[in-house]
Amino acid sequence: MKIAIIGGGPAGLYAAILLKKQRPQAEITVYERNRADDTFGFGVVFSDATLDNFEKYDPPSYRRITQEFAYWDDIAVHFRGTVHRVGGNGFCGCSRRTLLLILQERARELGVSILFETDIDDEAQFADADLIVLADGINSRFRDKHIDHFQPQIDLRSNKFAWMGSTKPLDAFTFIFQQTEWGPFIAHAYQYEAGRSTWIFETDAETFQRAGLDGLNEQQSADRMAEIFGWFLDGHSLLINRSMWRNFPMIRSQRWVKDNMVLLGDAKATAHFSIGSGTKLAMEDAIALADAMAHAPNVDAALQTYEHGRREEVEKIQHAADVSLVWFEHVDRFWDFDPVQFAFGVMTRAKAITYDNLTLRAPEFVREVDTAFAKQVRSKGFDVDLDKPAAPMFQPLKLREMKVSNRAVVSPMCMYSAKEGVPGDFHLVHYGSRAIGGAGLIFTEMTCVGRDARITPGCTGLWNDEQQAAWTRIVDFVHANSAAKICLQLGHAGRKGATKLMWEGMDRPLEQGGWDTISASPLPYFPDSQVPREMDRAAMDRVKQAFVAAALRGEACGFDMLELHCAHGYLLASFISPLTNARTDEYGGTLANRLRYPLEVFEAMRAAWPAHKPMSVRISATDWAAGGITGDDAVAVARAFGEAGVDLVDVSTGQTVRDAQPIYGRMFQTPFSDQVRNEARVATMCVGNITTADQVNTILAAGRADLVALGRPHLVDPSFTIRSAAWYGADIACPPQYLPGKEQIFRNSVRDRQDFEDLKIKGKPKTRAELKAEATKPLAAE
Ligand SMILES: Cc1cc2nc3c(=O)[nH]c(=O)nc-3n(C[C@H](O)[C@H](O)[C@H](O)COP(=O)(O)OP(=O)(O)OC[C@H]3O[C@@H](n4cnc5c(N)ncnc54)[C@H](O)[C@@H]3O)c2cc1C
Ligand SMILES: Cc1cc2nc3c(=O)[nH]c(=O)nc-3n(C[C@H](O)[C@H](O)[C@H](O)COP(=O)(O)O)c2cc1C
Repeated sequence: MKIAIIGGGPAGLYAAILLKKQRPQAEITVYERNRADDTFGFGVVFSDATLDNFEKYDPPSYRRITQEFAYWDDIAVHFRGTVHRVGGNGFCGCSRRTLLLILQERARELGVSILFETDIDDEAQFADADLIVLADGINSRFRDKHIDHFQPQIDLRSNKFAWMGSTKPLDAFTFIFQQTEWGPFIAHAYQYEAGRSTWIFETDAETFQRAGLDGLNEQQSADRMAEIFGWFLDGHSLLINRSMWRNFPMIRSQRWVKDNMVLLGDAKATAHFSIGSGTKLAMEDAIALADAMAHAPNVDAALQTYEHGRREEVEKIQHAADVSLVWFEHVDRFWDFDPVQFAFGVMTRAKAITYDNLTLRAPEFVREVDTAFAKQVRSKGFDVDLDKPAAPMFQPLKLREMKVSNRAVVSPMCMYSAKEGVPGDFHLVHYGSRAIGGAGLIFTEMTCVGRDARITPGCTGLWNDEQQAAWTRIVDFVHANSAAKICLQLGHAGRKGATKLMWEGMDRPLEQGGWDTISASPLPYFPDSQVPREMDRAAMDRVKQAFVAAALRGEACGFDMLELHCAHGYLLASFISPLTNARTDEYGGTLANRLRYPLEVFEAMRAAWPAHKPMSVRISATDWAAGGITGDDAVAVARAFGEAGVDLVDVSTGQTVRDAQPIYGRMFQTPFSDQVRNEARVATMCVGNITTADQVNTILAAGRADLVALGRPHLVDPSFTIRSAAWYGADIACPPQYLPGKEQIFRNSVRDRQDFEDLKIKGKPKTRAELKAEATKPLAAE
């Protein structure tokens, strides 16, 4: 077999090694345009898990690499004169040059030929090769040559960064967030060998301009960075090696394989440097390719296996990298945070590290986070414990005069079980049991302001006395038997009205017994949905009055809070999104125009709703569709409602148009809550695939939301909050009838939690840094 590998970076060399081990008879050649030791960059970083992989696949190179490594366990965050250190991270660094020399040596040892100073510009010269590996890096000539086939998407990110080195020793992966007269600069730094560290500097485009970096050469910009970070560099210099400032390209290729050619490493996909995974991804691609080649019957099948088997893992890492890079791009959102909350945000920015996880590794740090959170709560007038602060989920919150005793919320969820809009016994048990289950705040399902405002025939309403009496019974039960507050969500279905019950066909038009629908514009949801009537001014007045009347009935029922539903493509949302609003009058066109009617409705309700009671608005912070609402629009929407007197923005997403492309995942909507909260400076509630108390605490402690709503988890577990309270040992109200159950779970949870933590700690292998520290520890004196 003949294999040509274009590019002698980590991907190409490691692929050569693994393939040659597998097929000693194969003729494998690596073509590299640079000289053998002519490499850019400084250090590379690997996690312990990545090193385990290297150990498994090629022990000799693993041993040589790890002999050269610098190990560290801590991450240190420097911010506004403070430093927070968190241990247990298990990372290693090594010089990129050393890594490449080791891989070159190992490849040669195995019989791979490496041709340096050989620039390849046409794959036709490898017509007789069975396999052509395109490992030619981030600016891959061959990916671009076959651009129509590989279809790379290149998203050039807005921040500027430059890779430099230093002689400054470091004992932790170090993040320094530095305010300057021009704006914020960030350093990501780590040691990779004795006396050498990598320094990546990052800043936003405006700060870059203001700092005059645009006009400086490599050395001058290194001097500027040395001035900014001089207090930390301690007289050590910064080193340069192709250290130009650039914008990071997030690359995703639609296809990785063409005939017998395959893309590997940066050529096919990149991951932002803030999660330190570029070299890891490149070498693990090589592992995946070698595995596929070992087991498939031929090259074609192997390349298909490689692409199909590897894509999900790469996309997962890219997603984590995306979340991380967005955090760094928007660091100014958090600039006025308490430093410990800021550090917690840095640590938890990419989902993998959570509140519970940090509690195990760095209990003192989490204690400090909890105390800072409790102090903020105390500053709002609550007499909360600062010595033994409760976890953030169990800290109270005040909105106007309403106090909620904890931050877990039952998200609004239609039960499709009302008769003519009247909630029945099912609803009493449903809301009642969730209130007894401990959630601080319960939202009703979307309750409709008129018969024709319903989504389905099973929706609840609040337009007549019978409905009002039924809701009063529910509200009274909640207040009499729990500490929960209850919020009425009012809405109008708009063009999504007159549809079937969820379990009979979500959003599908009713075949019989439907009613006429209205919307901002006469655009049907499905092509075969009813075409809604475009609302004229008279209809707008009627619907506004219906909202006000329902709000007044809500007050009469005793609801603690009121939410206006402006999300998910229903009537008011259909005004806000440009995808559903094609009007040419003053209610269409610009965002300010599209917001005009929803704001008018909100203001009318706000005037009718008692001043001491809070109001929220639910928005879709993105339509997940081209041309639709984006996170930036959501900030503007939230600001506008904030100015109109909203107390909380309930940040949901999507459901505007049927061909949207949401990106699901754990806590997938939380970044929008983060953006809205920390840019528009309004209190937010987040929601969406949040399933554990650990996630709730992580979100709250990092300042990404003020309340956390859980929908589906509450459908199967009304007692989610009380069980979580037992786990964290937080005090929580419970009706006297259920006290024996509460006492038991609180007693058992202490032991269960201890057992769980012991198991986790025992089950966790020691990091290489810990092992190295143990090996070099002096023996205790006799
Ligand atoms: C300037 C710079 C500095 C970096 N510094 C660091 C760092 O300090 N730490 C870190 O972890 N990561 C660093 N990275 C990122 C990291 O290098 C990559 O994520 C990783 O090397 C990807 O490996 P690869 O093998 O896919 O690509 P590369 O390492 O880029 O290797 C591709 C190789 O292909 C060769 N090549 C390209 N085209 C041809 C051709 N037509 N013919 C022959 N040869 C060709 C190139 O010369 C190169 O050696 C840096 C990247 C850049 C651009
Ligand atoms: C059965 C069901 C009914 C829902 N009804 C409503 C509703 O009436 N109003 C609303 O704003 N959201 C509604 N939603 C959306 C939820 O409030 C929530 O935003 C969504 O389920 C995502 O949260 P989760 O992942 O915790 O379930 C509903 C969701 C479900 C599963």
